[in-house]
Amino acid sequence: MEDPIQAPSLGTKPLIRALEGHSQPTPPIWLMRQAGRYLPEYRAVREKAGGFLDLCFNPELAAEVTLQPIRRFGFDAAILFSDILVMPLALGRKVEFLVGEGPKLEPMEDASALASMHERIDATVFAPIYETVSRVKSQLDQQTTLIGFCGAPWTVATYMVAGHGTSDQAPARLFAYRDPQNFTKIIDRLVQGSIDYLVGQLKAGADVVQIFDTWAGVLSPEQFDRWCIEPTRKIVDGVRAQIPGAKIIGFPRGAGAMALPYVEITGVDGIGLDWMYPRSLAQDILQSRVAVQGNVDPLALLAGGDALDREVDDVMTLSEGPLIFNLGHGILPATPIAHVERMLKRVRG
Ligand code: CP3
Repeated sequence: MEDPIQAPSLGTKPLIRALEGHSQPTPPIWLMRQAGRYLPEYRAVREKAGGFLDLCFNPELAAEVTLQPIRRFGFDAAILFSDILVMPLALGRKVEFLVGEGPKLEPMEDASALASMHERIDATVFAPIYETVSRVKSQLDQQTTLIGFCGAPWTVATYMVAGHGTSDQAPARLFAYRDPQNFTKIIDRLVQGSIDYLVGQLKAGADVVQIFDTWAGVLSPEQFDRWCIEPTRKIVDGVRAQIPGAKIIGFPRGAGAMALPYVEITGVDGIGLDWMYPRSLAQDILQSRVAVQGNVDPLALLAGGDALDREVDDVMTLSEGPLIFNLGHGILPATPIAHVERMLKRVRG
C-alpha cells in the first residue's frame, strides 16, 4: 500500500461538518466530474484501460483515476470513479459507451422490455466497484471525504427508455404518460437497486453518497413529485434503514421552485444546486434546512478571468451557512487546469 496522500490529522472531515449543518469560513470543495478528460493523467490511464466501462470495472485503475484530482488539487472529497449507467447493466440491460457518441443502451420501447430487466441487481456486477471504494478509502487521509454515488431512478430511466442521451428526455416522459403503471415498475426496480448499491458502497467505505438526478428539470411539478422526489425519498429511507444516519446529497438539476419540496420531503442532508438557481434564494430558504452544494457555472470556469472570480465570490456569500463549494454541473473537458487552480486559490485564500 502507498502512504496516505496527505498527513493524517484528527477531527471531523470538513465536508461532513457542512452536511451536519455547520458553516465554515473556508468551505470544503470538490468538483463534479473532477476525474476526467481535462486531466492529462486521466487521459493516459483511460488510453491504457481500453473502453470506458473497462476502466469503471478495473479496481486498480479506477482507484488511480479517483485519486488523481486529490493528488493534483488537494480537494476535500474524492468521488468514486464509475458511472450512473452501471445500474442498468446490473439489472440485465445492455450498455455500451461508443467513442465520441456517449452511452448506447438497448432501448425500452414498451412494457415488453420489462421482461428482460431483473427484479434485483446482480451483485457480482458491483463487486469490482466496491473493491475500488475500499482501495481508495485506504489511501485517503482523515480529512478527505470519499463520496459514492448512483444515478437517480428518473435520470437512469431516461437513458434506459431512449437507449441514448436526448435533449428533452421525451421518450421517457412519453412512456411515463402513456403507461405510468409499467413506468412505475421500472422506477421501483431502480429504487431497490439503488438502495442495494448505495448500501454496498457505504459498507465498502464511502463516507457520503450522492444521488445524481441530472434530468429532473424537464419534469412538470406533478411529475417531479412522482418521478424525482418520491423515488429519492424511498432511496434515502431505504439506505438509512440499513445504515442509520447515512449522509446523502441529492442533485436534482434544474429543480428550480421544486428544490424546497425536494429537500423537505426526501430528507437529504445536502442539495447540489445548478448554476441557474438564485444564490439569495438558497440562503433564504434552503440553508436553514440543509447544506447547499454548488454552484459555479462550468462555463465560467472554462472562461476563467474576471467572470470566474465574480462567480466564485458570489458562491462564497453562501459560506455564512452550510456550504460545499462545487460547480453547478460537471467540469467540461476543455477546462484549463490553471483555471481550476485559480478558483481553488480564491476559495481557500
Ligand atoms: O464525477 C466524477 O469524477 C466521477 C465519475 C462520474 C462519471 N460519470 C465519469 C464519466 C460520475 C459521477 C458520472 C455521472 C454521470 N454519468 C451522470 C450524472 C452527472 C452528470 O454529469 O450529469 C450522467 C448523466 C452520466 C452518463 C454519461 N456518462 C454520459 C452521458 C456520458 C457521455 C458524455 C461524456 O461526458 O462523455 C458518460 C461518460 C463518462 N462518465 C465520462 C466520464 C469521465 C467520459 C468518458 C470517457 O472518459 O471517455
